[in-house]
Amino acid sequence: MKATIAMVALMALVLSLAVRAETSPDEAKQIYDQMCAGCHGFKGDGGEGHRGGFSPHIGTLANKAYMASVPDEYLAMIIKKGGAAMGKIATMPAWEHKFNDEQVNALVKHIRSFAPAEH
Ligand code: HEC
Repeated sequence: MKATIAMVALMALVLSLAVRAETSPDEAKQIYDQMCAGCHGFKGDGGEGHRGGFSPHIGTLANKAYMASVPDEYLAMIIKKGGAAMGKIATMPAWEHKFNDEQVNALVKHIRSFAPAEH
């Protein structure tokens, strides 16, 4: 009985740690390079990293003027809801069931590094 309580307490602790864990920039880059670069390119310009003849080359994320014109909330929203829901090309998948808010926010930060606000 004591052991069961200890187990439950331990599981609760592990769960709360998992929820609170920050997504590191490295982790965000890893996710991006694996899941997003196939269409967006490693640098967001739709170039290097692009995979497969059927995926579109999307260069928007490296476009400084465009990126400066959209807020983080918009970027997070389109990552979660996908292109179709946001009136964009529908090949942009919805990721809300794959990534939590921490991960999405870290992805937004990573994307922002492609086109820094000032140069
Ligand atoms: C299968 C191809 C594909 C994959 C994979 C993909 N995207 Fe996209 N993404 C698109 C397309 C297409 C658009 C819409 C471009 C447009 O309409 O101009 C888009 C748009 C976006 C936008 C909004 C840019 C804009 O034009 O407003 C963001 C942000 C974005 N993607 C982030 C991501 C992230 C982060 C991932 C990985 C988790 C990802 N994408 C994976 C194809 C893809």
